[in-house]
Amino acid sequence: MTKPRARLTPQTLLWTQALGLGPLFVRREVLGEQRPQPAPEVNPTHAVFKPEVVKPEVAKPLSPPSRRASPAPPAASIPATDAARAEAIARMDWAGLEAGVQACRACKLGSSRHQAVFGSGSRQAHWMIVGEAPGAEEDRQGQPFVGAAGLLLDAMLQAIGLDRQSDDPEHAVYITNVLKCRPPGNRNPEPDEVAQCAPWLQRQVALLQPHLILALGRFAAHSLLGSNAPIGQLRGTVHAFEGIPVIVSYHPAYLLRNPADKARVWRDLCFARDLAHTKPVQPE
Ligand code: URA
Repeated sequence: MTKPRARLTPQTLLWTQALGLGPLFVRREVLGEQRPQPAPEVNPTHAVFKPEVVKPEVAKPLSPPSRRASPAPPAASIPATDAARAEAIARMDWAGLEAGVQACRACKLGSSRHQAVFGSGSRQAHWMIVGEAPGAEEDRQGQPFVGAAGLLLDAMLQAIGLDRQSDDPEHAVYITNVLKCRPPGNRNPEPDEVAQCAPWLQRQVALLQPHLILALGRFAAHSLLGSNAPIGQLRGTVHAFEGIPVIVSYHPAYLLRNPADKARVWRDLCFARDLAHTKPVQPE
């Protein structure tokens, strides 16, 4: 099994700091420091966080997702009524789903976006990361989390041995958003937009069958869990979506504005990593 290469070098650290993004999640080895044994922050989570699976307050999909995929109907033939549309989406394979998202005009964002942002990463990944919605850079590039928040997300993932370039399912991630289209001016997603986009995300989860979902920010947490509770209340518990464990944490964009909460996110990441039994990456 190939291990992902550690990409956070001292050089990377210097330029992320130069961009005003540092200090990020930096492994001690990168700074030339010894890792304390045992690392005090690595596994404190079971004391602070109780990894019991609670009954999901899950917004159920309109029909049970099926892992068996039938070829997708052409996007133009997706039925217009919500239930029939969700059922058609729930039968799609990856190719049909991606084409369907690109062709989607189910809400007003379909006409203001530059392009839809479907998701990226390995489709064999054990980890699924769900964010809120594409921003300006994502809308331009067609890829999730490629702006400033994406740089921070990469560093967060790397700190727990994950790498979005990896093909090794244990270390790979699949990254997507609640909304596939950018809300103009990066405003918050609106309820009808979340509702129209939900079947796409549900089908992505059903096809990927991740071992764990990391929901970043309140829109991801609320749409997956069907809850309106604040992030502070949702953190530290294993929730579930379609039987798949869900861990909630703060969104990287929030963290850029509130770096003091980095310690909380680190605990969430360790909690998730312990749950997924992902092995730490050895330094090069
Ligand atoms: N914020 C998100 O939630 N998703 C992205 O893809 C980029 C920024």
